[in-house]
Amino acid sequence: MSLTPWRLPLARALHRNRSQPHSHYLQLATITHEGLPANRTVVFRGFWSDTDWLQFVTDSRSEKIIHIQHQPLAEACWYFTKTREQFRLAGELILITAACEDKPLQLARQAAWEKLSDSARLQFAWPSPGKPREKEKEAFTPTQPSESEPLDNFCLLLLNTKKVDWLELRGEPQNRTLYLLKGEKTWSTQLVNP
Ligand SMILES: Cc1cc2nc3c(=O)[nH]c(=O)nc-3n(C[C@H](O)[C@H](O)[C@H](O)COP(=O)(O)O)c2cc1C
Repeated sequence: MSLTPWRLPLARALHRNRSQPHSHYLQLATITHEGLPANRTVVFRGFWSDTDWLQFVTDSRSEKIIHIQHQPLAEACWYFTKTREQFRLAGELILITAACEDKPLQLARQAAWEKLSDSARLQFAWPSPGKPREKEKEAFTPTQPSESEPLDNFCLLLLNTKKVDWLELRGEPQNRTLYLLKGEKTWSTQLVNP
């Protein structure tokens, strides 16, 4: 099977920027039900299985969930500081909650939970994100959740990418490449002006 064309430059960027922990952080923009943009930083958790779907984890109690349920279209923006290149990945988000009945997707959610650090797992036992600040300090020192049983509010989020815009600042002139999904697994590649 041939590799999706934008996966190679992205894999290369991840490799060349691997010394920088922030190279796994990207911005994920959604659209509110009022049609307003909403953006936040999330951690890239690799691709799901043999697909091109990017994995993130999130809390079902967070605001973005309402956006995604109303409008799954989203765009991720990822800047690699060492190699000075930007990837913008647009597509559709797929939310996998505790109620998801699709077996492979539920297994992916389970695997994502097991891969988290203890401190990351603990945050899912904290009080609801975005609600007025909890006064009791103990609310942020809950019992450590089990490594094998995801908390109900733990979600896996997948980005099914349909368009990638890759900009390389290095080079005279800079390079910019657009990848568009044309068919189920067919991509077009076009060099455009930066
Ligand atoms: C470096 C960094 C990494 C983060 N990683 C995640 C993440 O992987 N998942 C997540 O839901 N929120 C993550 N957050 C918090 C989000 O940016 C955001 O504050 C939170 O998800 C609430 O967003 P919302 O109200 O739009 O849902 C991260 C924040 C930072 C600064």
